[in-house]
Amino acid sequence: MTQDELKTLVGQAALQYVVPGEIVGVGTGSTVNKFIEALATLKGRIPGAVSSSDASTARLKALGIPVFDANDVGELAVYIDGADEIDSQGYMIKGGGAALTREKIVAAQSRRFVCIADESKRVQVLGRFPLPVEVIPMATAHITRQFAAMGGTARVRLKDGVPLVTDNGQHILDVTGLSLKDPLAFESSVNQWPGVVTVGVFAHQKAAICLLGTADGVQTLSY
Ligand code: 5RP
Repeated sequence: MTQDELKTLVGQAALQYVVPGEIVGVGTGSTVNKFIEALATLKGRIPGAVSSSDASTARLKALGIPVFDANDVGELAVYIDGADEIDSQGYMIKGGGAALTREKIVAAQSRRFVCIADESKRVQVLGRFPLPVEVIPMATAHITRQFAAMGGTARVRLKDGVPLVTDNGQHILDVTGLSLKDPLAFESSVNQWPGVVTVGVFAHQKAAICLLGTADGVQTLSY
């Protein structure tokens, strides 16, 4: 099976976690795009979605799925999103699509995070994927030096040769060379740094379930 087929498989499998009659939290990325396509088949049986990015909002609306402002709804039953890496405890690296801040907000607003991923995303220790960190641009140089002091190398993510601007008007640093053996402590610590908007470690908002697409079908992992 190709990676794209595995994404389709888990995107469809995630439908079983959508609660009829309840608004669903929707993540961002190519795997979530498969889920959004599948979600269109439930139109009318859910009121709509809270979205984690302008890109997902556009896709949801294009399929006729109403999108609610996060401030206009209460707690969500479930949040469905992909990951760049997921470890054996459900801790993740996210933000490859630059949507990490809104993803973490919608995840925090939801009772259960269901991660959908193909098996290439499963790792023993987080950190091979460059860690995305959303930052306020004036703090970039200082935060880069702080990561360097930890042995990390931070680079500003570019788009068309200029710094990528997130949906929140900020920049992304991609950090390599870090050891993320204690994701909870790391996330808590980096979150305190002035100028950091969101760090792409999802340990406090970890997955409760991962639907992992494998050559043998969808594996359900609970944490
Ligand atoms: C976007 C994300 C995505 O969930 C993550 O990058 C995985 O994306 P894909 O499903 O395309 O591999 O965190 O900010």
